[in-house]
Amino acid sequence: MDIRVAQHAGFCFGVKRATQTVFDLLASGEEKVFTLGPLIHNASAVKTLEEKGVGVLQSLDEWTEGRVVIRSHGVGPEVYQKAEAMGIPLIDATCPDVKRIHRTVAEKYAEGYPIIILGKPDHPEVIGTNGWCGNTAVIISDASQLDGLALPDKACVVAQTTLMRQKWDAIIEPLKERISNLYIVDTICPTTTQRQCEAQALAENMDAMLVIGGKNSANTASLFQVCQKHCSQVYLIEGVSDIPWTALKNLQKIGIVAGASTPDWIIKEVYSKMSEQEKMGQLNEEEVKVQNA
Ligand code: F3S
Repeated sequence: MDIRVAQHAGFCFGVKRATQTVFDLLASGEEKVFTLGPLIHNASAVKTLEEKGVGVLQSLDEWTEGRVVIRSHGVGPEVYQKAEAMGIPLIDATCPDVKRIHRTVAEKYAEGYPIIILGKPDHPEVIGTNGWCGNTAVIISDASQLDGLALPDKACVVAQTTLMRQKWDAIIEPLKERISNLYIVDTICPTTTQRQCEAQALAENMDAMLVIGGKNSANTASLFQVCQKHCSQVYLIEGVSDIPWTALKNLQKIGIVAGASTPDWIIKEVYSKMSEQEKMGQLNEEEVKVQNA
């Protein structure tokens, strides 16, 4: 069997940085550390952090003590204002690329541009970005929403960093036709596009694909959709316990990709377990060939 792991699987730069921020706080002897919302969209990673003493606040109203870390998704200005008013010590681990989107949105909004965000309205990053234009953005998650949608004749458009490139293309073209003064800032993270390209290349050549990531992770969902377009058997798994052993039996080539919030240790665990099962002859009899795609 040929098991291939995508070269860029697992934590992206922003998630790595936010996670490191939390570990540094713990290492410095900080006893009470909280994150505003789960640090990353991965249930088992959040559980591991909890075991290390990192609590999760759903809102600043729940705070009683300790430092509060803003995760990589970022937040709107009202959160900083509220924290200041309540005397809450914030540690800001917003991804620098997301911060850049906040600055763009705030500047263009101040210049009189209505803001359009391409992304999911309930995603924390989009909610945070919308805060920088006073929660006035028109949020579009799918080209089908454009039918009958009233649009201004001038606007600034940005995207959720993990938006699928095809979605951006499908929405941006009609927007260009309908909005005469459209200031376009393509804010899809290069990491997202790179991972989606790798997923496609791998999926095109594999019998089955395993997409490792949280069920509530937007970028994992995008990888899953990309894989589904190019491979007939695609499985979304959160970890080893979800590996679909029966479905994989007798397949020759299995690809593994992982969302930007999937810890390396989960990817390694899945990979090792599959190699182990293979060696024990439980998947099929052929020699295991493992290589990075
Ligand atoms: Fe930042 Fe890109 Fe990750 S914007 S949080 S490095 S997906």
